[in-house]
Amino acid sequence: MAKVERNEAYSVYVLEMDEQHKRLHGIINRLHEALMAEDSVDLRAAKDEAMLSLGKYLAEHFYAEEEYMKSIGYPDLAEHQQEHQNFHDRLQRYKQNLHAPDGLRPTEIMKILVNWLHDHLQGEDKKYGKFALSQ
Ligand SMILES: [Fe+2]
Ligand SMILES: [Fe+2]
Repeated sequence: MAKVERNEAYSVYVLEMDEQHKRLHGIINRLHEALMAEDSVDLRAAKDEAMLSLGKYLAEHFYAEEEYMKSIGYPDLAEHQQEHQNFHDRLQRYKQNLHAPDGLRPTEIMKILVNWLHDHLQGEDKKYGKFALSQ
C-alpha cells in the first residue's frame, strides 16, 4: 500500500494547521513502515510505539485545532469535535487489538487511517479554513 503523499489539496488555508497536518503525515508514514514490517514478537514494541506516537500527536493536534476553531467562533465546532472524538476512540481500539489474532490486519488499519485522514482534512478541516477566510 502506498504511503500518504502530500499535495496542495490538503491545504486548509491556515498555515499553523497545514504545518501540523504535514507532521501528521510524517507520523502516519512512520507508522506505515513499522506496521508493514514482518510480524514478529521482537517488532511488537516498535509497532506499539508507532501507534502511541500517532495517538499522542493526534490528541495534541485535535486540541490545537479545536482551540483555533473556538478562537474564530466557528459555528460547527461541536460536530467537528465529535468527529475527532470518534476517531480517537477508534484508534484506541486498534491499538488495543494490534496483536490480537482476530484483530484487523495492519494493511486494513493503514487503509482506514489514511482514508480517514484524507476525508477529514479535505472535508471537515477545510470547512473551518473556508469559514476563517470568509470572516
Ligand atoms: Fe479536524
Ligand atoms: Fe486537522
